[in-house]
Amino acid sequence: MRENFRRRKPPSRPDDKELRGGKGEGAKFFADPFVKRSKAEGYRARSVYKLTELDDREHLLRRGMTVVDLGAAPGSWTQIVRERLVGRDGKVDGRIIAMDILPMDPIDGVTFLQGDFREQEVADKLAEILGGDKVDVVLSDMAPNLSGIAAADAARSLLLNELALEFCLEHLKPNGVFVTKAFQGSGYSQYVEALKKHFRRVYTRKPAASRDTSAEVYLVARERKA
Ligand SMILES: C[S@@+](CC[C@H](N)C(=O)[O-])C[C@H]1O[C@@H](n2cnc3c(N)ncnc32)[C@H](O)[C@@H]1O
Repeated sequence: MRENFRRRKPPSRPDDKELRGGKGEGAKFFADPFVKRSKAEGYRARSVYKLTELDDREHLLRRGMTVVDLGAAPGSWTQIVRERLVGRDGKVDGRIIAMDILPMDPIDGVTFLQGDFREQEVADKLAEILGGDKVDVVLSDMAPNLSGIAAADAARSLLLNELALEFCLEHLKPNGVFVTKAFQGSGYSQYVEALKKHFRRVYTRKPAASRDTSAEVYLVARERKA
């Protein structure tokens, strides 16, 4: 399936452009309370508060788990995953595997793989790193570089979501949880239907740090069907 989807041109970083791209966006970015707070609290991105809220509500992350963070750079979600898995000895209790097409500064106890998730070699390498371990939580905050052309952006986002679902079907435990960023638009409802084919419970969340003006939501999928 992946081969059919393969693309050659890698995307560049989406979120900064999304936040800073337009006229006056720079000022908005720096006035954003989540940006200020993330800087003050030592997190790498404002997105940290999306996962914090999701985890506080959904109780996704626990010590001893194996967690895969897709589209992890610059690493604020990975920072939270680490915080929530760390044991009393200050070491990660469990496994955290993060991947992104972009480089990411290291985080203690985290295995990072740099590569394009659309490439088969990257999926193979992730499987090799897992070494047969099944995954408790797959997080995907992957987002393509936004071109501004709605149909193209939706298709690129959908592809990443389809590949993330494919990864879950191979590696997620039966009681594992999949959380993925999605954009409500073309192909969205079909993707939700695809999730419902494989999971008993599928629902959306819109954390406070996710802008009201953005079509972004997070889909939570639980209880895999046999
Ligand atoms: C919104 S950012 C993730 C932010 C991250 N969750 C955090 O809290 O720091 C989306 C990420 O998806 C990554 N991405 C986009 N396309 C990708 C691809 N084909 N393979 C791997 N990563 C990709 C981007 O490089 C970017 O770092």
